[in-house]
Amino acid sequence: MELHGPDGSPLSDEDLVSVLRNWTGGDLSSLALCAGVVVHWLATHRDAQPGLAAATDADLDAAIDEMLRLDDPFVANRRIATRDTEISGCPVAAGEHVLLDWREANLDPEAFDDPHAFDPHANAAANLVYGTGPHVCPGRPLATLELRVLTRALLGAGRVELDESQPAVREEAPVAGFRSVWVRLVD
Ligand code: HEM
Repeated sequence: MELHGPDGSPLSDEDLVSVLRNWTGGDLSSLALCAGVVVHWLATHRDAQPGLAAATDADLDAAIDEMLRLDDPFVANRRIATRDTEISGCPVAAGEHVLLDWREANLDPEAFDDPHAFDPHANAAANLVYGTGPHVCPGRPLATLELRVLTRALLGAGRVELDESQPAVREEAPVAGFRSVWVRLVD
């Protein structure tokens, strides 16, 4: 079977590998990293659990987006400038590599009144967890649904507490978030 791009031309092997990498990397590893951040936030904010358990889907989704903004497991993506430009006063020449630092952007005091405060609705508009522009994450609705299902299942199973005997392990660059988060579900 031959697969075609939006302009009708056949996809090369390189295109197909890139698509498969985005699907598998996007869905599996991103989701695992995000799940760690969400589970850790829940376990370290026990007072918030009853309110989230009773929240509407929209409010719960906004809360999860905000947990991910505060501790974004995505560190960076790269771009190559297609023309000479300027970013916040810094000249960038065509062909230069630009690193998008999602974690810095998501805690930028120029974008958020109080960047470290948990305020899902106030901070939603500037939240860059799923990127922005032409390459904005196409998997966002799926990821949002999966994280909501996970959160509802956990909160429905009991109070989520950190297992103090097994400290959470942080991930290392080029990603962030957690490698493992051990929790107990308490009746
Ligand atoms: C789990 C949470 C997820 C997060 C936080 C996330 C985040 C992101 C971000 C920040 C980008 C933009 C990259 C850039 O600008 O260079 C992106 C792109 C992308 N994501 Fe996700 N993603 C997630 C889940 C998913 C899922 C579930 C899928 C697929 C089922 C997916 C597929 C993709 C693809 C294909 C792109 C590339 C889009 C393009 O370059 O045009 N992602 N994602």
